[in-house]
Amino acid sequence: MLALLPLLGDALPLVPTDARWIGVALGDLDAIHADHLHCERKAAQSALSLIRSYPERTDLVTAMARLAHDETRHVVQVSQLMARRQQPAAYDFGDDYAVRLRDHIRKKEPLRLLDRLLVFAVIEARSAERLQILADNLEDERARDLYASLATAEVRHRDIFLALARDTDGVTWRARAAELAEIEAEVFIDRPITARIHG
Ligand SMILES: [Fe+2]
Ligand SMILES: [Fe+2]
Repeated sequence: MLALLPLLGDALPLVPTDARWIGVALGDLDAIHADHLHCERKAAQSALSLIRSYPERTDLVTAMARLAHDETRHVVQVSQLMARRQQPAAYDFGDDYAVRLRDHIRKKEPLRLLDRLLVFAVIEARSAERLQILADNLEDERARDLYASLATAEVRHRDIFLALARDTDGVTWRARAAELAEIEAEVFIDRPITARIHG
């Protein structure tokens, strides 16, 4: 069983979202939800990809299988919200935010595993921040409740990835988490403000 330390997230400080983002997001909720559906799908796929790469890590296999289960449930929940809103779906045209973060994953093991876990932790942390902002600002009560519950789940996922990173390299994980948080800040601040979860 994976032991989660309290306040593990302190290892991963994030710059706050630009205050203008929520106005853009509320102005095109169809785009937000359509993008969000794919974020949840990709989160499930990322978790399963770690099982493919590291089947010998039974702690990781169990944690990632459960996490992928959470994420596929989130796909269902977002899909149901979209159906209730009778809004159009959209294809996924890629997410250069995640691509730019993944560029910093080192090639050699076990550094590669450490970096993959920490990049996923960063993405979970940013997703949680954005989903909580939506929860705090949406008018529809059911959508607010859904987004608040999703934000809580993504914080828990962030801590699962951090705990796995800690158990992968107990010496350097905090320093590397701090480096990746700085890299994320550069990537994030650099982006145009759009109606996307990481936009
Ligand atoms: Fe999720
Ligand atoms: Fe998640």
